Parts: sequence; C-alpha cells; structure tokens
Amino acid sequence: MTTMSNEVPIIFDPQGHPLAPLLCGKLPAELGQLSYRRFPDGESYLRLDSPVKGRHCVVLVEMSSPDRKFLPLSFLTSTLRELEAASIGLVAPYLCYMRQDRRFLDGEAITSRIFAELLSNQVDWMVTVDPHLHRYTSLDEIYAIPTKVIQGAPVLAGWLKSETDVFVVGPDLESEQWVAQIAEYSGHPYVIGEKQRLGDRDVSVSLPDLSELETMTAVIIDDVISSGQTIIECMHTLRSRGVTKINCACVHGIFAGNSDKAILEAGLSELVTTNTIPHYIRVSLTNSMFLACC
Ligand code: R5P
Repeated sequence: MTTMSNEVPIIFDPQGHPLAPLLCGKLPAELGQLSYRRFPDGESYLRLDSPVKGRHCVVLVEMSSPDRKFLPLSFLTSTLRELEAASIGLVAPYLCYMRQDRRFLDGEAITSRIFAELLSNQVDWMVTVDPHLHRYTSLDEIYAIPTKVIQGAPVLAGWLKSETDVFVVGPDLESEQWVAQIAEYSGHPYVIGEKQRLGDRDVSVSLPDLSELETMTAVIIDDVISSGQTIIECMHTLRSRGVTKINCACVHGIFAGNSDKAILEAGLSELVTTNTIPHYIRVSLTNSMFLACC
C-alpha cells in the first residue's frame, strides 16, 4: 500500500486481532474506532466512529469460520466506500475458501473462485499469509485485485533451526512446497508422506522409509490444521514406525471443533503455530506483515 495523503492510514480491527496494535505501531497507522453489535434477531449493527472520508483504510480480519465473518466484513467495507474512504485494503492473516479449487464431483460449487470474486468486489488490495495454493499457482488466477502473499515458512524455519536431533515430516504432497524450504533453511532432513482423504474426517497418511530417522524427534509441518485428522493420522503412522517423540507446527491453526485437544491427547509433545489465527503462538509474522503493508 502506498500512502498518498499526509495522514497515516486507519486500521479497522473488528476482531481485536493481536496483530492490530503491532501493525499500527510499525506502519505507523491509526487504530480506527467502530461500534459493532448484534441485534436480538442476529442481524448486525455497525457504526464507524472514526471519520474516513479521503483516508486510506485497512481492514484486518482473519477469515477462519468465514461464513459468520463475511457479512459483517461486507457491511464494513461497503460503509467505508459509501463514506468515501480513499482506498480500502484487506489484511487477512488467514484466507479462507482456498481448498475447494476444482469441481471434484458434478455440480459442486468451486467456492474458492466464487469467494475470490465476492472479495475482489469489496476491497482494492489484499495481503495474506500462505493461502492454500494447490491447483492454483497464484492468487491472480482468481482474485481481480492486487494481492501480496507473506510466507510463513521462514518464521517456522527460524524456530526449527534452534531444535536439535529432529527431522521434518510433510504429511502430503502439497506440503512439500513449504516443508522442503523449511528443512533446507533449518538444516534438518525431511520426508514427505502421501495422504488419502476419503471424507472430512476420514484420512490416512503413509510415509516412506524412516530408517536412520526413527530415533530422532519428528516435527510434522502443515499449512493448515482444521479437523486435525491429517496430523493425528500422520502421528499414528510415525508411531507404527517406532518414532516416539513427535512435535507439530503449522502456519494456520484453525482447530475446528477443538481438534487441538484431540491432537494433544494423541500424544503430541509440542504444538506450534504462527500468529495468523491466535493460538499456540510461538512464531510471529509481525515484521513480514509490516513489510507487506508498506
Ligand atoms: C490440505 O491439503 C492441507 O494442507 C491440510 O493438510 C489440511 O487442510 C488439514 O486438514 P485437517 O486438519 O482437516 O486434516
């Protein structure tokens, strides 16, 4: 984002995300004031308490559980537009609806494309962290606005570098893109598994030969943890191969239905996430986020 007026941008943070005060301090930006509440019937009330006419505005919303967040976000961006904000950017530390990237079965909605179209109509630019790019090579394939992607791998690699006697495990072929990068930077060996997903919570993970690695600590790395089944199944396979100490790190810890508890109860030694979705934070993306928003 380039600031064209003398005034600093305003950041609106309807969720109270921990990145907001950090970004305000680093950019610098002003924290915008707004009042939001729900009426008894579940409809939203929104009022912007900061003047926005002619100001560059940034909305910070992490988009896990998106169906309940999208409408309030639309009310906010539409109101900013109507009140003549100079520009509206979205900082979405986690970007939802990236995994349904094709029609797997006849008649299915390709929600990634539909959601991208909806969001592109609301904001002028977007910054996000590690969107799940699998069959799309870039956000440009579906987003019509300028986007900037921040990588979580460098901060996870920085954390992993200080760990000793570990090997990195990517649970599926998609994970190789960040696992290889993390392993190379942190100087640890890695293996990549193969995942079969038969349903939302029906997953199996197979791994290649682990001889010479099984006495080390395995660190499973994934971009997203949702139901937790990928991690739990990967842990089962590691255990069946004689690996006893297992840690796990991910960029986005959604932990749907408290799946973090299930993962920890399955015997995980340590769970690490970045601060895109506040939870088990060991590594912070603030500096990278600051650079991307400048
Ligand atoms: C999928 O391709 C992603 O990289 C993750 O492996 C997946 O989203 C994890 O989902 P769950 O926690 O529900 O197994």
